[in-house]
Amino acid sequence: MRILIQENYQALSNWVAHYVAKKIKDANLTPEKPFILGLPTGSSPIGTYQALVQLYKEGKVSFQNVITFNMDEYVGIPETHPESYHYFMQSNLFSHVDMKPENINILNGNAEDLEKECEEYEAKIEAAGGIDLFLGGIGPDGHIAFNEPGSSLSSKTRIKTLTYDTILANSRFFDNDINKVPKTALTVGVGTVMDSKEVLIIINGYKKARALQMVVESGVNHMWTVSALQLHKSGIIVCDDESTMELKVGTVKYFKDIESESLNKLPELL
Ligand code: GLP
Repeated sequence: MRILIQENYQALSNWVAHYVAKKIKDANLTPEKPFILGLPTGSSPIGTYQALVQLYKEGKVSFQNVITFNMDEYVGIPETHPESYHYFMQSNLFSHVDMKPENINILNGNAEDLEKECEEYEAKIEAAGGIDLFLGGIGPDGHIAFNEPGSSLSSKTRIKTLTYDTILANSRFFDNDINKVPKTALTVGVGTVMDSKEVLIIINGYKKARALQMVVESGVNHMWTVSALQLHKSGIIVCDDESTMELKVGTVKYFKDIESESLNKLPELL
């Protein structure tokens, strides 16, 4: 697993955006050979999305032949709700770039048959040839997508009940009222994310420090579902200095040393 420790959130976001754009460019895409990109919501990827929009505006990347699959969606709030993940993706990324609407996939939390919705989502990912790169963030308890502590590390897309911790953390988006936060969500599984060819996780800020310590310095553990990344062939964590607060000095120095070349330059967009 690679760990890239960036100086701050802006540097992290810029690096991740360049990395994603380079992957898309290098793949020499056609409509027959699209790039399959997994995407998260939350505050962590916002800077990356802003930097990707900027790269698009500068003509350095196009999303014409990109197919996206989002990680998760709340159950039971309208897609037009400002806190729905449908709304989030439109306002933070899709409406600013040249994504084809038919290439956007987000779980429908209002589907009549939620289980069927999840099964079909998995089938759609498979039919697309699997995900090339899954971007993700984590919750303070190390959950990935909505795979709360204790989730099976081989889980697939399904309905999950949110923990009190997550409801509390997300209440900041719902007028700080936990009663307004949906109690269930549809989410890709840890296994769905791990089946991707590559996984890149964004971790920033002090409140994620303990989770970063668990995923980097401790073993694979279902109580910190992002730790499954240790078993992935191509897992990358891009984090900021602040989130490394709980890591050993030696761990930070080690990763800064072995990644020094990548840290000092942005992935090049030729
Ligand atoms: C929610 C989402 C996760 C996200 C997490 C952290 O639980 N389902 O995908 O990683 O929030 O959000 P933030 O980036 O705002 O800290």
